[in-house]
Amino acid sequence: MKLVKFLALVLWSSPLVFSQQIIPEPVAQQKALGEFVLTADTRIHIPKGNAEVRKIAEFLAMTLAIPTGVKLPVLETPKIGKHINFKLESTPFKVVGQEEGYSLDITPKHIDIKAQTPAGLFYGVQSLIQLFPKQVEGKKYQRMVWKIPSSSVIDYPRYAWRGIMLDVSRHFFPKEYIKSFIDQLARYKFNTFHWHLTDDQGWRIEIKSYPKLTSVGAWRVPRVGNWWERELPQEGEKPTYGGFYTQEDIKEIVAYAQSKYIQILPEIDVPGHSLAILTAYPELSCAGGNKFQVNAGWKFYRDVENSLCPSNEKVYEFLDKVFGEVTELFPHPYIHIGGDECYKGYWEKSAECQALMKREGLKNTVELQSYFVKRVEKILSSKGKKLIGWDEILEGGLAPEATVMSWRGDKGGIEAAKQNHAVVMTPNTFAYLDLYQGEPTAEPMTYDLLRLKRVYNFEPTPASVSSSLILGGQGNLWTESIPNSRHVEYMMYPRAWALSEVLWSKKEKRNWDYFITKMENQFLRMDEASISYSRSVYDPLVRTMKEGTNLKIEMLSEIKGLDLYYTFDGTNPDAFSPKYQSKLDIPKNASFLKIQSYRGGKPIGQRLSIPVKSLYDRAGRYNADFGF
Ligand code: ACM
Repeated sequence: MKLVKFLALVLWSSPLVFSQQIIPEPVAQQKALGEFVLTADTRIHIPKGNAEVRKIAEFLAMTLAIPTGVKLPVLETPKIGKHINFKLESTPFKVVGQEEGYSLDITPKHIDIKAQTPAGLFYGVQSLIQLFPKQVEGKKYQRMVWKIPSSSVIDYPRYAWRGIMLDVSRHFFPKEYIKSFIDQLARYKFNTFHWHLTDDQGWRIEIKSYPKLTSVGAWRVPRVGNWWERELPQEGEKPTYGGFYTQEDIKEIVAYAQSKYIQILPEIDVPGHSLAILTAYPELSCAGGNKFQVNAGWKFYRDVENSLCPSNEKVYEFLDKVFGEVTELFPHPYIHIGGDECYKGYWEKSAECQALMKREGLKNTVELQSYFVKRVEKILSSKGKKLIGWDEILEGGLAPEATVMSWRGDKGGIEAAKQNHAVVMTPNTFAYLDLYQGEPTAEPMTYDLLRLKRVYNFEPTPASVSSSLILGGQGNLWTESIPNSRHVEYMMYPRAWALSEVLWSKKEKRNWDYFITKMENQFLRMDEASISYSRSVYDPLVRTMKEGTNLKIEMLSEIKGLDLYYTFDGTNPDAFSPKYQSKLDIPKNASFLKIQSYRGGKPIGQRLSIPVKSLYDRAGRYNADFGF
């Protein structure tokens, strides 16, 4: 065997090193010999007369300009010298025959990015940026050799709908952060940003026909601390926390997202979750009165009405105007109308609702909600929009053309698909990014557990349904317990990386151990980019189970190669403490179980300090559904 051929084989069969890793995992990636070194005379070459491709090329040039100190010229003239070449294939591209697919070839002399659409070229650029050294993520000039190992990539997505939802009602995030969030989604080839714009705790979109939605509905009393235990507004207290996006802001963000090949799905959550609407316009409630106040935390809605009144014609006039303005602002073919968790107690007590139910032959208030959703669907279709809602819209009968977002596990999605309706899978059991990702006593307060490995194991297409009805999937980031943008990022990563692989990569390419090496690579890149993330994957999952009257403790690591040292005597564990081997009993009178994980002889996780009481309280929890 010739030496060169032998070397090539050795290289190709060895695992990809950090500098060749891409998230989400491409369909195919092969190493080759040599490397491309970026130099001051490198050019970006684009096809003639295509302004959209020019923008993508300029985006690459701008991304490289600050860290490398080289602003690559973007040229339409014939290729000369070292170049990065953008090619738009006019006929169906034989290898990457999909709209968002691309190929990327890196050789010592040139880099070729080919695609059938500008979106494909954009994703080729995103992969290319990930192949540059981590310093490319930083905002400052770095004097170094900028090189990428030679390789070739062929890539296209598994699902057309690859979404992340951000709730901006429970906490408000300003326009500039929303743009940065969109940049982050684009890095990992998400193409849908579901914007949860309204809820009980704030209405966030300017509606010119109903100005009080924002002058009143966007503001609540300031509160911090446990969402579920917050003090109610006090007499005379000013609602000073909040904010909203003007229609100009929204146009700017929509255009910005389009330039990153992300569509924005707006959500106006009705008929439940509407306390902010009712605070501004109490006449849209059933029971009326002027007692409404935008909520500053959680409150049970038996005490305070938070649902629009389905027997009130003014509600449909209101929705017609609101959805009319929303339609003008968002080009997405769908509008999300919410439909979840609607408390119907006030409908039961309303004489008008009872009369409407009688007139329409509706057996109960669940069917009354279905009546409401069907009317909303008519409003949307009169504006050329399709309806999507949470899986409660199945109850009482699905509207004729509705698409279902399945959140209470995958049950609703399966049911909708069986009725031949399209589905987006976003089950709380795999895709709720607001849940704890590590040991709950060591994490910022939230309410249930969803470890990284569980997200990585998410399968959006259930075996029992036609795969053509599953449009894709989505991660949901509710922000009850997420008061700032750093914490948004902490909750997103690394779980959103796992989700990007679920939604983009081929199922048979999933490889947990390799994903973990890529995650660690991304950690270093995020450090450069000053983006926050969680390292909870280094902390064990501590499970408890009753055996007879005894409580047994089990520690599981999500990743290989961790050693877990623990104490029950109150001291801080280190590598001289007992090492976890098998299930443990709790010694009498112990107050804390403390754990420290090590890798390669060095502490790596947080020092966990779990009250023994909490171990008893959680007996049997976190074991199957939300752990891994
Ligand atoms: C939801 O989590 N209420 C959709």
